Amino acid sequence: MTDHDVKDLAMAEDGKRRIDWAETQMPVLRLIKERFEKEKPFDGIRIAACLHVTTETANLVRTLAAGGAEVALCASNPLSTQDDTAASLVSDFAQSVFAVRGIDNDGYYKHIQMALDLKPALTVDDGADLVSTLHTKHRDLLDTVIGGTEETTTGVVRLRSMAAAGELRYPIVSVNDAKTKHLFDNRYGTGQSSIDGIIRATNILIAGRTVVVAGYGQCGRGVAARAEGLGANVVVTEIDPVTALEAVMDGYRVMPMEDAARIGDIFITVTGDRDVLTERHFGLMKDGAILANSGHFDVEIDVKKLRSSATDTRKARENVEEFVQQDGRRLFLIAEGRLVNLGAAEGHPAAVMDMSFANQALALEWLAKNRNLDAAVYPVPVEIDREVARLKLDSMGMTIDQLSAEQEAYLSSWQEGT
Ligand code: ADE
Repeated sequence: MTDHDVKDLAMAEDGKRRIDWAETQMPVLRLIKERFEKEKPFDGIRIAACLHVTTETANLVRTLAAGGAEVALCASNPLSTQDDTAASLVSDFAQSVFAVRGIDNDGYYKHIQMALDLKPALTVDDGADLVSTLHTKHRDLLDTVIGGTEETTTGVVRLRSMAAAGELRYPIVSVNDAKTKHLFDNRYGTGQSSIDGIIRATNILIAGRTVVVAGYGQCGRGVAARAEGLGANVVVTEIDPVTALEAVMDGYRVMPMEDAARIGDIFITVTGDRDVLTERHFGLMKDGAILANSGHFDVEIDVKKLRSSATDTRKARENVEEFVQQDGRRLFLIAEGRLVNLGAAEGHPAAVMDMSFANQALALEWLAKNRNLDAAVYPVPVEIDREVARLKLDSMGMTIDQLSAEQEAYLSSWQEGT
């Protein structure tokens, strides 16, 4: 059996069933896997992957392994691991997995360390915890790393700071910046799965509620659109004037959190920054307000303060904690203020992760073939982005028009006008 630290291998049967189900929704990744099986682009290459351990990630790991890679997988969040998936990856697919749902901070970083023990040539990260650990605690391993990929906005922000500070030591492809990633995963994936997490945790009716969405990036847009679709009155808070204007023209009310705090029934933070909901806001909220976070790290809601200022706390439901305020108002926090879509639901649906992970697989193949890149953050090559879109459309039975020779000529000429 491969090296592993998972909750319980006896859970593998359920995990295998769900991994197989997810695969049916991931036709693009399946095609890439079939090609990798023949071409073996990762023969002899070790890959350490720090990702949410879900059925979709399991299919990415299977794809990389089919391409000849030796993979070690650890979790990119202490609360997102699907224990049955982790068990099945070890038992049914002979992969190394170090991940247990609900692990503490020490255990979380120990698992990253265990994945790094593989001495990877390629890294896959979601939030840059593995890359940051590698650059701070395991610099001895840096010389043999040829490249890496990063899945999420927050991770890319961290990597760009590392690069700007001259600290980044190997090339990393920002998968998040591929159009076929952020325009779909961030918007439709986060939109649906965040609302899914809130509904699974609380079983509340969304229609008629005031839903406050903090942050109107791609993820915030998705959450706002899906909440509106379910009949919510959506309020958006923003710090960027252009983005705020977009939210206004998309039909939402925009106001500072100080005002939104007084009227919201449900709050969803998706900003990527800290201290979005703080003690000041807790003091203004209505009795029964529900708080959830869909940003990568659990820094957006000041959970420490919520806990320390409460006169009483209790588990209200699975994944829902009640905090009683000094004046008797009750605030409800979902999934400890960690990613609500993965903490209280199953993360993005497989059909959207299909595109994100197709980009991952192809970006890793590109790095394996291009070994002399400088240490910097690279975009996904545009051909990969377009190929993923083409394959996804194919899989959906969609065809599109093609430019005629005359149209191509028109688009490249400057002489033709009125
Ligand atoms: N991030 C968001 N949803 C995910 C999923 N289903 N699998 C892996 N990473 C994710």
